[in-house]
Amino acid sequence: MHSSEQTKKTPIAVLISGRGSNLQCLIDACAADAYPARIVAVISNRPDAYGLERARAAGIPAIAIDHKAYEARESFEAALDTALREAGAQFVCLAGFMRILTESFVNRWAGRMINIHPSLLPKFKGVDTHKRAIEAGETEHGCTVHWVTPGMDEGPVIAQARVPVLPGDTPETLAARVLEQEHRLYPQALELALAQQR
Ligand code: GAR
Repeated sequence: MHSSEQTKKTPIAVLISGRGSNLQCLIDACAADAYPARIVAVISNRPDAYGLERARAAGIPAIAIDHKAYEARESFEAALDTALREAGAQFVCLAGFMRILTESFVNRWAGRMINIHPSLLPKFKGVDTHKRAIEAGETEHGCTVHWVTPGMDEGPVIAQARVPVLPGDTPETLAARVLEQEHRLYPQALELALAQQR
């Protein structure tokens, strides 16, 4: 890639806690010259997250900041904020990052932080979304990419994708159907978010 093209890409960080399949989709999308972002750091609050391996395999700095090593949420977030700034991140993507962030941290990154959530928000905020959608008798379920605001899973929606809930679905079969859509949606939604920001 030509260096002037590289500088047009927004430097982003991806925050994860586990498997990192959404991270992988962002890594793959960022590999295209025309895509408007490049990943400068992948940060996990769990040192054993498989997503850190994915980052290393792609030659991206992989940073573990173990929340258990910090007494307070604020000191964990101070370390997170420092790592983001040191990496030169100007934008943050939460991709299966399973820690609640304080209002003060969220406000520091306001308008520059997005999240993917496995439900059609405002339905099913929080965890166990697939099980709860089945139990509620929903015929449709899906995923949402949204701006992060202090209320959990409450920020303005950037994009959503829908899937049917089929007879006989278990939380696992439904999660797999939704995940396929997450992988399609997140790179598109990040591109939209960056365009909205400019
Ligand atoms: C994804 O389904 C994501 O939507 C969900 O965690 C999974 C992470 O998978 N996020 C949340 O539930 C956030 N509240 P991945 O690590 O393979 O991308």
